[in-house]
Amino acid sequence: MYRTFTCGELRLADAGKTVTLAGWVQRIRKMGGMTFIDLRDRYGITQLAFNQGTEAFEKANGLGREFVLQVTGKVIERQSKNAQLPTGEIEIEVSELRVLNPALTPPFTIEDESDGGDDLRMKYRYLDLRRSCVRKNLELRHKFAFEVRRYLDEQGFLEVETPVLVNSTPEGARDFIVPSRMNPGQFYALPQSPQTLKQLLMVSGFDRYFQIVKCFRDEDLRADRQPEFTQIDCEMSFVEQEDILNMFEGLSRHLFKAILGLDLPKLPRMTWADAMKYYGSDKPDTRFDMKFVELHDIFHAAEEKKPEAERFSVFANAAYIGGICAKGCAVYTRKQLDQLTDFVRRPQIGAKGMVYARIEEDGTVKSSVDKFYGQETLQAVAHEMGAEKGDLLLILSGDDAMKTRKQLSELRLEMGRQLGLRDPKKFSCLWVIDFPMYEWSDEEQRLMAMHHPFTSPKPEDIPLLDTDPAAVRANAYDMVINGVEVGGGSIRIHDAQLQEKIFEILGFTPGGLAYGLDRFVSLFAGLDSIRDCIAFPKNNQGRDVMLGAPGPVDQIQLDELLLDVRKPNK
Ligand code: AMO
Repeated sequence: MYRTFTCGELRLADAGKTVTLAGWVQRIRKMGGMTFIDLRDRYGITQLAFNQGTEAFEKANGLGREFVLQVTGKVIERQSKNAQLPTGEIEIEVSELRVLNPALTPPFTIEDESDGGDDLRMKYRYLDLRRSCVRKNLELRHKFAFEVRRYLDEQGFLEVETPVLVNSTPEGARDFIVPSRMNPGQFYALPQSPQTLKQLLMVSGFDRYFQIVKCFRDEDLRADRQPEFTQIDCEMSFVEQEDILNMFEGLSRHLFKAILGLDLPKLPRMTWADAMKYYGSDKPDTRFDMKFVELHDIFHAAEEKKPEAERFSVFANAAYIGGICAKGCAVYTRKQLDQLTDFVRRPQIGAKGMVYARIEEDGTVKSSVDKFYGQETLQAVAHEMGAEKGDLLLILSGDDAMKTRKQLSELRLEMGRQLGLRDPKKFSCLWVIDFPMYEWSDEEQRLMAMHHPFTSPKPEDIPLLDTDPAAVRANAYDMVINGVEVGGGSIRIHDAQLQEKIFEILGFTPGGLAYGLDRFVSLFAGLDSIRDCIAFPKNNQGRDVMLGAPGPVDQIQLDELLLDVRKPNK
């Protein structure tokens, strides 16, 4: 047998057995007449002991980190036990050692706390994956996908594979395209989601479909976005929004219980309009409160009483004024407040400035706009915001209410971070419902579908389609956990397209949802980026630096495809 045990399973009860193990050298310690090696595999670490005078001892002294070994020896009780390791009570007294493969010195230490930077670890991802903290994320991902299948199978869902060489799918990103040799000059597009295909499966009568499926989107990358990512894609026939929300709340509840051992309470629901009003975001982080308070009326009433010359033009002309109350932060220094102002003025956030006010111990309000507003106004503001002694009020204003809300949302998240309110071990989940049907695209100068074009409007808003389309709400919903959109979906429409016509004739409404598996798993693992739960992820330029992809192809290949590719400018 190549090995009789793994490196994680031997215990004191195995003492006396002769065993064979295989694995990688984690660490070597030479102590006079003894040499110790920590041998590592996926299952753990076992200590090997080599006694001076043996052939194995001589060989062991010539090894380095990451050499691959096969060893045979006797399990013995350790002199000095290691309570940190499950195998810490035993060691193997090695009699035979075979080097399966030597190793060069690794470019970074293969330890949980590695000295390797991000780029280096990505270049040698196959070494990075040897670190147990990275491997654990993939183990969690496996368990997660397994539990998804278990739950959906129990609910009668069928897993059906849909093709990857398809044509454009309407999810609003750019397509990755694949030239066809057999159809010169024509292209496939990789699916941004299986949306159209899963709806066709409903037409075919499959009733409940799911798939754990790769989706491809050529869009700007961020910590929670990869160009290829995995969806838990689902579709159900003969359902209403309520059925979908209940089914997938059930899936989440199952996952929280099976994987984290947590009981997920009934998910609260928040309309999109409220999410924007109170949190300035369609994916609010509800682990903490710090809701927005609109202050437009108070400040404008104060402005109206003043002569023109004394007005604070920033507020007097603002379309929106809103603030958040940071509990106990009146102690913030001038420097900390300046840093917060710099934070909101960063180009990515784009606020012009920030107004602040402290509630002093004697109850007076001291603000950065004291010369424009008397105590009466400032007290009214503090009261409106539910502020108490020792609190700090942070206020933003602007001409565009939506933009200002988004800026205030960034400030709220930053304050949450500074106050330690965004604990990755704490989970706050909710549904955001009643999304608008359309959103205005500055780039395209037109209204675009906010979810995708198969989404159904709320029946009571259908009359508005002709008069005020921007006000129409959709039967669309997102599941949000800790400020991350982990899933989203909609009830589909009966549209002019053939496929929807069929639905109309059949008189049923399918609906569905897709979860982002990567995002969900990275939340469970407490990760900052979804990259860390993907075995071979791409970097922010969409490159796999280990494989060197994308890369050029031979002219011959291009000729066969009838592609005329201009060389990029160097
Ligand atoms: P949507 O576009 O909202 O809906 O995608 C569903 C979920 O997929 C995840 N996601 C991503 N994860 C990582 N990287 C990306 N680039 C990325 N893009 C999306 C998110 C998101 O909530 N067909 C519809 C679903 C439906 O209507 O049934 C769809 O794809 O977690």
